[in-house]
Amino acid sequence: MKKSLLIVFMTLLIVACTHTRKAEINVIPRPVEYALFDKVFKFDKNSKLSVEAPEECKKRLADYIATTALALTIADDATENTLHLKLIKSLEGVSSAEGYSITTDKNGVSIAATSEAGLFYGLQTVLQCIENEGGVPFGSITDEPRFAYRGMMLDVSRHFFDKEFVKKQIDALAYYKMNRLHLHLTDAAGWRIEIKKYPRLTQLGAWRDRPIWKDWWNNGRLYVEEDAENAHGGYFTQDDIREIVAYAAERHITIIPEIEMPAHSEEALTAYPEISCTHEPYKQADFCVGNEKTFEFLENVLSEVIELFPSEYIHIGGDEATKTSWPSCPLCQKRMKKEGLKDVDELQSYLIQRIERFVNSKGRQIIGWDEILDGGLAPNATVMSWRGTEGGLEAIASGHKAIMSPGTYCYFDQYQDAPQTQPEAIGGYLPLEKVYSYNPVPEELEQDKAKLLYGIQANLWAEYIPTPEHMERMIYPRILAIAEIGWSAQETREYESFRNRALTAVEHLKSKGYNPFNLAEEVGNRPSAKQDSQHLAKGKKATYAEGSPFYDGYAAGGDTALVDGKHGGWNNNDGVWQGFIKGGIDIVIDLEEKQQISFVGADFMQICNPWIFMPCEVTISASDDNSNFKELVKIEHKVVEDDSLSFKNFGWEGETEARYIRYEAKSDRKGGWLFTDEIVVK
Ligand code: ACM
Repeated sequence: MKKSLLIVFMTLLIVACTHTRKAEINVIPRPVEYALFDKVFKFDKNSKLSVEAPEECKKRLADYIATTALALTIADDATENTLHLKLIKSLEGVSSAEGYSITTDKNGVSIAATSEAGLFYGLQTVLQCIENEGGVPFGSITDEPRFAYRGMMLDVSRHFFDKEFVKKQIDALAYYKMNRLHLHLTDAAGWRIEIKKYPRLTQLGAWRDRPIWKDWWNNGRLYVEEDAENAHGGYFTQDDIREIVAYAAERHITIIPEIEMPAHSEEALTAYPEISCTHEPYKQADFCVGNEKTFEFLENVLSEVIELFPSEYIHIGGDEATKTSWPSCPLCQKRMKKEGLKDVDELQSYLIQRIERFVNSKGRQIIGWDEILDGGLAPNATVMSWRGTEGGLEAIASGHKAIMSPGTYCYFDQYQDAPQTQPEAIGGYLPLEKVYSYNPVPEELEQDKAKLLYGIQANLWAEYIPTPEHMERMIYPRILAIAEIGWSAQETREYESFRNRALTAVEHLKSKGYNPFNLAEEVGNRPSAKQDSQHLAKGKKATYAEGSPFYDGYAAGGDTALVDGKHGGWNNNDGVWQGFIKGGIDIVIDLEEKQQISFVGADFMQICNPWIFMPCEVTISASDDNSNFKELVKIEHKVVEDDSLSFKNFGWEGETEARYIRYEAKSDRKGGWLFTDEIVVK
């Protein structure tokens, strides 16, 4: 053993003998391995910084440190009261270049890593210790990320958020060791990046007549000229982009730009209608794939984008194309014939593959939403899996990289607490615990394929988020769960511990001027969803009448879902609510023997945006022989559409005896849903 190592070892041994070992360290993400003690090293005004690294790296680290709570003077030969950073060739037990080790004793704190990023992440751990532990605990930490890609997507199209906002989020992301920020720069609601060759994209496409997306969406979806009195919106100039990219790079975050194609492009196609199938403004969401001018446009735009963003990846969207104009467009039809494309999915794939060749020719790679699998995946593409994880797994199975961002766990536009306590959101219910419960690596993924699972990303769509404060409330603290999923080893993750650390982090974020959701005041799920109920129908057989099937996508467990004792939460999509889209509900429950009954009832949910309504009529009846039913009650209900999420029990109370209970519910909304979670019999 080298002499210096021996000294460190001896010191730690002495500390170990005289101090209590810490079970926990208040850092997010939780480091992979640590042996720490309750004694801490505190920096003071005499503390020094010494850096063993090439000059440029040293300067960048020192400049960065000068912006943090650590105001240290450089003194390379300092050996006491020092923060010592050292770039080394290899680090035992660490395979990722982002990994680091920290050793702390009475002389100070030493961080070692094989890359500047590793030193930077070690520094974040030190900063969090100073903030949350009163200093850096004596002992050692060895740490490295689970995934190489740890990202967040911000939708700056639906509402525009400026460069200062973006830079502020970069600071927080870096503090929690996130390393990718994906900017959704283009969509119907506004084009947000200056493109010199196509000025109309931002003269017209970045401005609309109403500031709030929902008002704009429901009132004609008009764009206006930049200098119009009622112009609302904005965009990043190319200088803004350079500034954001450089700021992020200093914090080891790569900005990934997304330019949507072929869909979500109403703003671009209103600014340049000649590249839509019908050549008229305001008519199309999808580019015309038959027109060579479309490729000229996309390649010119991408050339400027590639020039601005050094990212290995360019995100080309690819989601939710309607493809409705392509079947009747002569140019699209001609293209399909010439290229031997059998359907519109293959036409989309033609566009993506051609764009991939272009992007690859510039030395970059494409990422697309999982719809880019339809019609054939481009040879080098990485898939961002959002409609569940199947798309990502399919991509991995065929040798492609995938980034997991399934809506159920990673879509931060959903409510994070009881909806009635929160500002309006798009729907759903995604509390911190649910985000944290996600493990991106499914058991069935073979070991040798797991390395293609590149990482995880949270997506924050901004339709319902008009202000920066609201945006931050939706990001924090949920992004901390993504940070820990992305970094910490799965076997070290545990929600109780994480929640405690997140509570501290919320206070820290507040002190830094962020507006996190106040986790300490979390209300939680619908009270009835918190525990199973016991009742006479639980575990009994439920038979659905012909013509009254539940919808497979909302089966919630199938035939037993309404008699399993489980009650749904705030979200119709939580796997507990059962959905019916046609024929209403008509179910008979067999209680197996004649029973004394005093209550029969079921809860329904209404949320009009996704077209879920209360029933207009419920009939409850009882029978001894499953043939002659006696009506217990018929409830008429006037369905009133509103903006809120509501729940109502439709039930009967009285005294009767019966073996069979029939529960019928009708909807008066054509194409509307009924959602119920349990038929309770007492
Ligand atoms: C998406 O949410 N449309 C990617």
